[in-house]
Order: sequence, then structure tokens, then C-alpha cells
Amino acid sequence: MYSFVNDYSETAHPAVLQALVDTNMEQSAGYGADEHCENAKNYIRQKIHCPTADVHFLSGGTQTNILAAAAFLRPVEAIISAETGHIYGHECGSIEESGHKILAEQTPDGKLTVAHLEHARLLNQEEYCPVPKMVYISNSTELGTVYNKAELQELYAYCKAHDMIFFIDGARMGSALACTDLSFEDYPQLCDAFYIGGTKNGAFMGEAMVIVKEELKQDFRRHMKQRGAMLAKGKVLGVQFEALFKENLFMELANHANHCMDILREGIGELGYDFLCESPSNQIFPIFPVEVLERLNQKYAVLDYQDMGDGKRCVRMVTSWATLEEQCHNFVADLKAYSK
Ligand SMILES: Cc1ncc(COP(=O)(O)O)c(C=O)c1O
Repeated sequence: MYSFVNDYSETAHPAVLQALVDTNMEQSAGYGADEHCENAKNYIRQKIHCPTADVHFLSGGTQTNILAAAAFLRPVEAIISAETGHIYGHECGSIEESGHKILAEQTPDGKLTVAHLEHARLLNQEEYCPVPKMVYISNSTELGTVYNKAELQELYAYCKAHDMIFFIDGARMGSALACTDLSFEDYPQLCDAFYIGGTKNGAFMGEAMVIVKEELKQDFRRHMKQRGAMLAKGKVLGVQFEALFKENLFMELANHANHCMDILREGIGELGYDFLCESPSNQIFPIFPVEVLERLNQKYAVLDYQDMGDGKRCVRMVTSWATLEEQCHNFVADLKAYSK
């Protein structure tokens, strides 16, 4: 059985694991005050061309999103998100638990547009409504779709015009960078804060929160501490990001994930199957007849996503830094055989 279920099935890229082994016996300062965290922060600041950015290492995506809500917003302020946004449907109400309402917008492809922001803003004008203060997007999105530079520019311009904070969930930022016109150095120009996902791109675990806007920086570490996110052994996060960013490993891994997905997407498409939406990143949502899926399921694990009617189901397939290219070719060959 080979799994295309997610991009966190394997533990860590060998270079990341080796870095953890190499630094294992070092006696370091606690709570992220060590030289590896410092080096990793500086590598990231160089990569994004933003020497003034604050960088904080956190252990997971949900934790990072909770902290963005808790640290950046006042109690009466709310977050606009796509209905498919990870914070809305997949984080167990953790944002709401932090006291902030999510104003969810329906989208065909998981992407917010200025029209969505305007809709949410106008709907929440009255005093009895929370203030729509933060816009949350993920890039790539939960549907594998991506925002390009012009789209982010439009959203950010709207946010600035309406005094809103623009926050980008980069759990799969590597994959988005590998298939759009965006580069690392664009991000500080296109939003107020974002995070770089390590967990899904070769790290054992960890995300790097990058805060660009000055007003959002204050007391972030205190917020981390209050939510149990300031790890005593914070060094292990710094070591991993050091390994990913000291050279180009982060993007090499993201390119590999996307390359593997290109093989699957093209192969599945050439056999005439449809997709839920067009997604150029490391996630696709192909639609298969149930009998074909049952045969595929004997050899490959995929995530059952949605019933499409007419005896068809949509599944989610994900590739990662660890995906074996050969298995992508095998999948396409098997699908071809089952499609006859
Ligand atoms: C876009 C996005 N954000 C956040 C998360 C949450 O990450 P974690 O499971 O590390 O909390 C995920 C996880 O799948 C995700 O896809």
C-alpha cells in the first residue's frame, strides 16, 4: 500500500534529521534563545529580503493560527476566511475559543477575492456585529489552488484601505512558491504576517511565523508563552529551519513535491478524469467512478473527499518531499489498466 493521503506521512528529510542528531548533545539556551534559532531567523530574513521581520518558531499550524488570532486581534474583532479555510472547518473551534468569530465566505475554489472581503465587511457594519479586522487566507489553499502575485496585491490593497490585517497561512507555502509567480521576497510586500510551513515540507515539525507589520510584533512571545507554545527545547525548531534555509533545501523539497504531483495530474487528466478544481500545487482532487476507486484502494491510500453523485467520488491526493516518483508512475499505469 502506498499513501498519497497527506504530506506529513514521513518523519523528516534526512538532512533535517541529521542536523538534529549533530546538535543533539549541544547544551543550548532554552526557549528559543539559542544560536540555531538565531541563525535560522537570519536565514529566513535574508531569504525574504526583510531584515526587520520578527520570526518565531512554533510547533504546528493550528497553534500558529491560534496565535495570530490571539495576538493580533482585540476581543470584538473577527476574521474573514474562506469556508474551506483550515481555521474554519479543521481546527476544532480553536479560533472561536480564543474569542474571535470567523466570518466564513463561500468560494468555488477555496480562494478569497475582494468581492468576498467587501461582502463580509458590509454584512458586519452594525454595532452588534464583530469588526471584520483580519483576513485569513492559505497559500496554497486547502483545495490545492494558489494565489498569484496580482491576486495577493489586490487583497492586500483592500485590507490596507479598510484597516484590516492580512495574514497568510503558509502551511504549504513551499508548494505555492514552486508553482506561482511569487517568490520569498514578495511576501513581506504582500501581507502583514505569514507563516512558512516546515511540517509539510521536510521538517520533523515546525512552522516559522513571520511578522512584518510593526504594530503586530509587540508581546508575541508572551502570547506564545500564554498558549503553551514557547518550547523549552525550542532549539529543535531552530535546528530544523537552519537545515531547511541555510541553502536551498526548502525549495528543493517543494519542487520535488510539485514535480511528483505534475506526474499524477497529467496522467490522470490524460486518461480523461475530471478534477474538483484546477490545482497546480501538491494537492489534487480527482473524481473517479466508485469501481475504479475500489481497485485503486487496494494498492494506494487516498483521502475520500466528497460524493459527486452518479457513482463517482472525489478524492484528495497529496505529494510531498518524500513521495517516490516511481509510485506516481505506478499509480497512473494502474489507473490506465483499471480504466479499460
Ligand atoms: C492550510 C493548513 N493550515 C494549518 C494546518 C494545521 O496544521 P497542524 O495540523 O500542524 O496543526 C493545516 C494542516 O493540514 C493546513 O492544511
